Amino acid sequence: MQLISLSDFLDFLSPLRTADFKSEKVDAFLKTSEFVEDSFLPFVHFRDDTYGRNLVYRNQFFELAVLTWLPGHRTPIHDHSNQRCWMMIDSGELTFRNYEAPGTGKIRLKPVGHAETRKRGAQLYIDDDLGVHSISNASTKPAVSVHLYAGPITACRIYNEISRSFELKKLSYLTEGVWSPKGQFIESRICEPTLI
Ligand SMILES: [Fe+2]
Repeated sequence: MQLISLSDFLDFLSPLRTADFKSEKVDAFLKTSEFVEDSFLPFVHFRDDTYGRNLVYRNQFFELAVLTWLPGHRTPIHDHSNQRCWMMIDSGELTFRNYEAPGTGKIRLKPVGHAETRKRGAQLYIDDDLGVHSISNASTKPAVSVHLYAGPITACRIYNEISRSFELKKLSYLTEGVWSPKGQFIESRICEPTLI
């Protein structure tokens, strides 16, 4: 295992293009890497009403985000709009539940396997071929996770459990990282608060 900082991770990610993200490069890198403790601290901002999405860095090929979870926070069941999504638990524990990839129209989702609760250091992966999922903090302590998405998206489909159908939902951030043209981190800036 190599111990890496956020800056090491961004150095690895920045030259990657669409074809690289479709290859095994990211999996191979993550399999042998562990983040230095508190690597993502400047991006850890919680909100009370729902989980927080904090953007670390984004370009046209990927986005890196830190998600924050108070006890009881959960995402709706959602897809990933054809992107690949790598997830790492930075602190606390989170519960992941996957469902079969849905079709269109009214759908009764079928769970795949059992809900899985994972702790700090765990790495997970999902894309639309594997299915849709929800993530929740079912523990009594806050949790932080790091999500790498390739490519970046501005909306995804969210499952409405009452109408049993998917709806398109625009995504937004609680905070976003501000970087200098030379790639120096400047600050984590608060965005307009929204419901997700
Ligand atoms: Fe997700």
